[in-house]
Amino acid sequence: MRETHQLRDIQSWRDSGIKLSTPSNEAAKLFDASISQLSGWYDDKQLGGLEATMTKMLEADPQFIGGRSMIYAFDAVGGANVNNNPTLKTNVEQLIADVAANPNCDKWEKLHVKALEHLSSSGIDAAIRQWEEILVEYPSDILSLHLTGLTCLMTGRLERIGDISGRVLPSFKDEFSLSTAHAWHSFGLSEINLTTQAEWHARKALTIDPKNGWSTHALAHVFEMTSRSNEGIAYMNQGELLWNFSNHIAGHNYWHWALYYLTNGDFESAIDVLENRLINRAGFDSLSLSYLLSMENLSMDNVMTKHSERIDEIVRPFRADLVRRSFIDAHVMMGLCVSKKYDEAEQFMVESIACEDLHGKSVNENLLRSILSYSREKYDECVELLWPIRHHIKQIGGSEAQRDVFSLMLINAALRSYKLEHKRLAGQLIEEREIHRSKSPLIDRLRDLM
Ligand SMILES: [Fe+2]
Repeated sequence: MRETHQLRDIQSWRDSGIKLSTPSNEAAKLFDASISQLSGWYDDKQLGGLEATMTKMLEADPQFIGGRSMIYAFDAVGGANVNNNPTLKTNVEQLIADVAANPNCDKWEKLHVKALEHLSSSGIDAAIRQWEEILVEYPSDILSLHLTGLTCLMTGRLERIGDISGRVLPSFKDEFSLSTAHAWHSFGLSEINLTTQAEWHARKALTIDPKNGWSTHALAHVFEMTSRSNEGIAYMNQGELLWNFSNHIAGHNYWHWALYYLTNGDFESAIDVLENRLINRAGFDSLSLSYLLSMENLSMDNVMTKHSERIDEIVRPFRADLVRRSFIDAHVMMGLCVSKKYDEAEQFMVESIACEDLHGKSVNENLLRSILSYSREKYDECVELLWPIRHHIKQIGGSEAQRDVFSLMLINAALRSYKLEHKRLAGQLIEEREIHRSKSPLIDRLRDLM
């Protein structure tokens, strides 16, 4: 985190090579504080949290181009665009007009607005390319690196982030940005299975800033990818008070923690994390965790009944959202199916399939139908829906660990299918899984079902 006394005023921004358009030192400092909270995934309590910081920044200078551009870019990273979000469309158009009319707007802010223009028009590759160009000229721009990383994560392009972060890593000097850059580099490397290097960078990031929950998250992925569940459990347990500081990623870190227990076959502890640490936090991770647990010959009926209202609360805003992504819709589907709300799941699936502007559309129908088929114990149907798209699911976004639920669903469905060829496929898929996640108790359990 960046301490309040370290926040950059206009002159400090200039010293770091960036001339901001705002004449307000307050806005410049709150801009820095917003970037720090966004890329460190935390709410700065002294400033009233991220939302309040951004509100105060715009109160200090409502015309601040860099500040507005940053806020709209984070909306667009989440999937909002000029077609599905009329407010974003108006805001981006006004911002572009203001840039053209503002003689004080310098290159860095103009380039960020250009990236936003691409992203909000669904020009994902063009936006990433624009941030990469910004990083060539401003290599210590943590905002560009973070926006690039998030965009890659949301759109199935995570294999790029290791290269992008690696190019600029030596340019970061201040501790907060350096720690975040190491964390992004680690996460990117773990997604392409360079886990030894990924672990080094995650640990380096944590040495620099032990409270950065994004760095803990990077290390959590290394433990997950290398089937080191016991180390993962010990690490998450021992560092809980530290990584909880990054409250916007803490829920997801609890998901990783529960996943280690699940892998080890310690379902009681996994359910304990689900019920007491994860389910009341924002986000959709509890839906996939519940679904993963339900695939372990374990009835989740009592847990789902107990938390039925909370599951509804989680699912409702995603269903009503103007922005639709297959990644989210698959999670909603898992939540409805594990709660055995099949009629609602059917209805939701029809809505989702009909949605024209949905990220990951080409695999969405098969994906949602396969979740429903599995839940209704139509295992052969699930295999036939999921098997042809398994290598294309990546496009929906998320990490390898998050999409692993679909790999496990395919294996479990193939194991349970009445078709002999599906059972043979299951055996081969288990062998394949051994290549990437060897010595995992979860693989032993799958083998026992053969
Ligand atoms: Fe993760």
